[in-house]
Amino acid sequence: MAGLPPKVYQSYTLPQPETGTLRKSLNYKEYDIVMAPRVAIVFYSLYGHLQKLAEAEQIGLQKVGIKADIFQIAETLPADVLVKMRAGPKSEYPIAEATALEQYDAFLFGIPTRFGNFPAQWKAFWDATSHQWSSGGYWGKYAGLFIGTATQGGGQETTAIAAMSTLVHHGMVYVPLGYKTTFDLQSGLSEARGGSPWGAGTYSGIDGSRLPSQLELDMAVTQGESFGKTISKVTFA
Ligand SMILES: Cc1cc2nc3c(=O)[nH]c(=O)nc-3n(C[C@H](O)[C@H](O)[C@H](O)COP(=O)(O)O)c2cc1C
Repeated sequence: MAGLPPKVYQSYTLPQPETGTLRKSLNYKEYDIVMAPRVAIVFYSLYGHLQKLAEAEQIGLQKVGIKADIFQIAETLPADVLVKMRAGPKSEYPIAEATALEQYDAFLFGIPTRFGNFPAQWKAFWDATSHQWSSGGYWGKYAGLFIGTATQGGGQETTAIAAMSTLVHHGMVYVPLGYKTTFDLQSGLSEARGGSPWGAGTYSGIDGSRLPSQLELDMAVTQGESFGKTISKVTFA
């Protein structure tokens, strides 16, 4: 994978005091101010729904001046099984590599539910991150979630709760969507929609034929925007 562009820095040097033990003891040195957090949106998608949400999240981040990179989780199922499952074609997004992701400050993870939990493809990714787990490669990074299920009640919240254990073991800081920025979208009962205070979401329908609705896409854009605002308050080392 090509290297990331360097972080945008605005550097300044505090004036060195000429005398005075108190001021000397403050250990003046050059400080760097990070101008924009680096965000990776990482999704797995078999039928395209999570990809659409990932792209909506990216638009939301762009609205607050953050240019996020999108990655997809590697497939682990054999080709003949994918044919039987009527999986769609894979997108062109680069495959997420555990080491390359260490360069980012924050993540939005897109998870299509499997029995109320991560799919095996996502789990295979996490199971290859023991180096990051032991070295703290993701420690202190911020993370939000967006989730797909086939049905209402199919497990969007349980998938988010199940993901907490992985975030906690890596020392990542979970940023929920909450209600504040999407209150109207979440409180309406006029149409079926995915998404919850845990993160944006979509229903694919039992045969995968339902596409993300405008309301679900709006919620994902707003999540990208509010996530961007939250992490912009943080100074990442
Ligand atoms: C093996 C398997 C298990 C699934 N388990 C659930 C489930 O527990 N609840 C649910 O609502 N949908 C379930 N689904 C449907 C997927 O969550 C749905 O196809 C996915 O969110 C669509 O997103 P995608 O197009 O990005 O792959 C399951 C699908 C498969 C293949």
